[in-house]
Amino acid sequence: MTLGICSDHAGYEYKRQLIGWLESKGYQVKDFGTHSTESMDYPDVAHPLAEAVEKGEVEKGIAMCGTGNGMAMTLNKHQGIRAGLAWDVEIGKLVRQHNDANVLVMPARFISFDMVCRITEAWLDTDFEGGRHQKRIDKIPVK
Ligand code: RB5
Repeated sequence: MTLGICSDHAGYEYKRQLIGWLESKGYQVKDFGTHSTESMDYPDVAHPLAEAVEKGEVEKGIAMCGTGNGMAMTLNKHQGIRAGLAWDVEIGKLVRQHNDANVLVMPARFISFDMVCRITEAWLDTDFEGGRHQKRIDKIPVK
C-alpha cells in the first residue's frame, strides 16, 4: 500500500520518524512535506495530500500538526476526503470502522511518538463496517 504523509513544522519530527516506521513495515510512503521544523502554513501541504488521495495516487493519507485541527479542517474541504482526528488507539479504530476515514490526522504536540505508531497501526489494520455507517457517510458531502 502506498500512503501519503504530511505535517507542518509542529509535526515534522514525528512525520520523519513515522516514515521510517512505516517503511520498516513494508509500506511505500510519499512525503508531501514539510521538510524541516521551520514555521510554515499547514494548508500548503494538506491540499496536495488531499488531491493525491482523491486522484488515487496514494491509497490513504496521514497528516500531523500541533493540534491536528488545522490539518483536519483543510483536508475536509475536499469532497473526496474524510479526515479523522485521532489521539488514542480506540479513536484510531473508530474513524475507520464508523467514518471510513481515508486520512488519519494526529495532534503531534499532545501525544507521544509511541502513541502515533499505535494509532497508525490500529487505523491501518481496521476496516470500515459499512451498513448504517455507509448511510451516514453518504450524507456528509454538501451537494
Ligand atoms: C502551529 O503553531 C499550530 O498552529 C499548528 O501546528 C496546528 O496546531 C494548527 O491547527
